[in-house]
Amino acid sequence: MTLLLRGLVVHTPQNPFREEKALEAYADGAIALEGGRIVALGPYPQVRRAYPQAPLEDCRAGLLLPGLVDTHVHYPQTRVMGAMGYTLLDWLEQRTLPQEARLSDNKLARELAREFVRLLLRNGTTTALVFGSHFQGATANLFGAAEEVGLRIIAGQVCSDRLLRPELHTTPERSYAEQKMLIQRFHGRGKLRYALTPRFALSASEALLEVCQSLLYEHPDLYFTSHLNENTQEIRTVAELFPWSAHYLHTYDRFGLVGQRSVLAHNVHPTEPELLRLAEARAAVAHCPSSNAFIGSGLFPMQKHLHHGVRFALGSDVGGGTGFSLIKEGFMAYIAQRLRPDGVALGPAHLLYLATRAGAEALGLEGQIGDLSPGKQADLVYLEPQPGSSLEVHFRHAASVEELLGALFTLHGEARVVRVWLDGQEAVLT
Ligand code: GUN
Ligand code: ZN
Repeated sequence: MTLLLRGLVVHTPQNPFREEKALEAYADGAIALEGGRIVALGPYPQVRRAYPQAPLEDCRAGLLLPGLVDTHVHYPQTRVMGAMGYTLLDWLEQRTLPQEARLSDNKLARELAREFVRLLLRNGTTTALVFGSHFQGATANLFGAAEEVGLRIIAGQVCSDRLLRPELHTTPERSYAEQKMLIQRFHGRGKLRYALTPRFALSASEALLEVCQSLLYEHPDLYFTSHLNENTQEIRTVAELFPWSAHYLHTYDRFGLVGQRSVLAHNVHPTEPELLRLAEARAAVAHCPSSNAFIGSGLFPMQKHLHHGVRFALGSDVGGGTGFSLIKEGFMAYIAQRLRPDGVALGPAHLLYLATRAGAEALGLEGQIGDLSPGKQADLVYLEPQPGSSLEVHFRHAASVEELLGALFTLHGEARVVRVWLDGQEAVLT
């Protein structure tokens, strides 16, 4: 059966960093959904003529967008958000790792997994690359919770064997065995995929990184994700721990972990050779602007990434970040660039692209999701302005779609995610 959604439809089927007319919008548009996919997109009268009998959902009070893609978020950290006054390493030690240690309790982990998935959905995120838990059981709970609601996630059991706290440390042997089981159970099951996830080079011995290398050799279609160049103190410590390394990226690259299915979070302080290598390897960076500001890591050098052709997309980095909303992350990305002397002049099309299609590209999923072109999976989000808000005034008076989209990102807190579709199925938002 076909379903039509009618309303203001906006997406970025092209890359606005390269194409001038990357934004495509239909003021009175329609999307036709069938069998979990988008089968038509265009002006409402045209789509209606093609599907005269199809039932219609009226979405004219708001805005229809592609489902949002979060390329970096931590499942155990929902309750960590808001820890003010720290920088990365003391934030981890004092506020974050104690919370992560609690996930050895499987009952709590199940509760947190459901809560996490619910919050992704009600913020319009339909695909996410997720840092799981240090515990195997808790990571299985995350996959289970995502599967239950039909969310597309790529996730893995986080591994570390030094410098955190003993409850969070594994051994290379144990990590191999536990990850192997999770890969066999979840990787490729429905919309679930597995990512090798050493927490960061600081907390991973060479033997543990070798385990990731072996697993990647045995399963070449796994993803790899970790942190990179987030904080200057962290970078100095990593250099001491890996005296042979040319730079931070090298600590992963030496073990064959930097490729086109790799996503490295932050990269606030990259060196030139690292940018060259990221571009060469076609690896992607998860840009987490609210976290970079909140934990005081710095302002993302976007111009350098663009200059070197390094791919990047947005990540909420909950709980270093300040919420699950990728609309807000888009706005924070804009602000961060305004504050840099070499800041990129971003516009609404860039922000929408970074929150949707760029994420799909970073995850190699641009053939399936990221925009609303016919043939794509029907992952969609419908947002409305809060009644009486200044965003609602913009909805009534904006002179163009670009103007309205600029207001949506800027006034992100006044937008409400009202409906979400996953593969054409409407999700229940709670
Ligand atoms: N580096 C290592 N672990 C973390 C984490 O949980 N959050 C952030 N932002 N950086 C990290
Ligand atoms: Zn992170």
